[in-house]
Amino acid sequence: MQGTGTTHSVKRSLEILERARQLIPGVTQLLSRRPTRAALGVSPIYAARAKGCHIWDVDGNEYVDWMSGVGPIILGYADEVVDEAVREQISRGSIYTLVQEQSVELAEELVRLIPSAEMVRYAKGGGEGCAVAVRIARGVTGRDKVLFCGYHGWHDWYLAANLGGEQLHDHLLPGIEPIGVPRCLEGTALPFKYGDLTLLEDLLKKNAGQVAAIIMEPMRSELPPPGFLEGVRELATRHGVVLIFDEVSSGFRIALGGVQEYTGVVPDLSVFAKAISNGYPMAAVVGRREFMEPAARMFISSAYWDDNIGIAAALATLRELERRHAPAYFERLGADFAQRINRAAQAAGLDAGCAGVAAHPGIRFRGLDADTLRKVHTLFIQENARRGVILPPGFFFNCAHGQEALDRTEAAVRESFALIKEGLERDRLDELLECPPQEDLFRRMVS
Ligand SMILES: Cc1ncc(COP(=O)(O)O)c(C=O)c1O
Repeated sequence: MQGTGTTHSVKRSLEILERARQLIPGVTQLLSRRPTRAALGVSPIYAARAKGCHIWDVDGNEYVDWMSGVGPIILGYADEVVDEAVREQISRGSIYTLVQEQSVELAEELVRLIPSAEMVRYAKGGGEGCAVAVRIARGVTGRDKVLFCGYHGWHDWYLAANLGGEQLHDHLLPGIEPIGVPRCLEGTALPFKYGDLTLLEDLLKKNAGQVAAIIMEPMRSELPPPGFLEGVRELATRHGVVLIFDEVSSGFRIALGGVQEYTGVVPDLSVFAKAISNGYPMAAVVGRREFMEPAARMFISSAYWDDNIGIAAALATLRELERRHAPAYFERLGADFAQRINRAAQAAGLDAGCAGVAAHPGIRFRGLDADTLRKVHTLFIQENARRGVILPPGFFFNCAHGQEALDRTEAAVRESFALIKEGLERDRLDELLECPPQEDLFRRMVS
């Protein structure tokens, strides 16, 4: 295991980063993978390979990785079963002039597993899937406006929310400028607050007859307040609005059929991506027949959406998730994980711990102002990284996380927490940080 503190180095990562800065605006394609979001100078940046819940960087360091590829990895990196299905598909060709029967088999599986699914379309990414769902909702209703709650990708329909002033603050990140988004979209995407049915109802009344869709993340880490999703469902039906659940991050984790299976609240359309295919690009937009069927007449079309690799990977992933009882495993793993983190916090005398549902929790440091919190998060990431653990406060379980990962992580977190406690108590956070505090202000990142 790496991470004695003295031997850990990411020199080669930093050298590659310098080359990337000359050539790749923003360095990575996904914001969450930007090195400035971690402990720059200590956290690994460039990977060499990964297996199970372990990742190796280009400097030869090995880590237990709790980020699971920022969500797509749900069975574990380089899972034997999924990769065998992919290899078998590659040997017969990845994409054809024709389509393959497996695209129908996957649709049948999704219809079997997901309560809202009667028909299915495919795409390659989560944001893309959301854009498809919004297009369908606008096409079906003949209306333009969209009410949203949560993060739904990078597309114009969504970033339009910030044209009339900053409205994405609570849903994505503060400070996002809608650069390049057509001004004429102003007023078409309106946010509502999670848990606030009164605000949602007011918005629906104020925009009566103009709202095509309510799109929302049905939950992240915390269970919805009692009656909230049911209330949203009722309002959508009453106002003739298409209800879309964005299950890109929640799908397959708490229940195989998503939050909609877990809560029993069934939307009209839903979007699944990320974990659906254990790391091979794939997304599915599923929904009730009366909303999906009209999609055949809308121009929603892209060459790689018929790619067979993602379809083969998704079929294998869904079958393995079921065979391995993944949601029940995450529940048990999460309970153990939370107990260890909470125990470590207690041992350090730190007001911190796990929060949220067992299958998808987060780590919270309580009672700190925003500036201190950013430093504490960065120090946590930094000290875990140097001890061979990739663990920021938000993370994703996969089925390869087991006892060894838990043991190593608990040991690392105990030391990280002790250091954070010392930094807070003796006002030494700045001294202990070997990198700039983690950036989360988008404004600074694009400047
Ligand atoms: C809820 C939700 N919707 C949409 C997206 C965007 O998905 P992608 O990055 O695959 O475009 C994400 C990504 O994190 C997400 O969590």
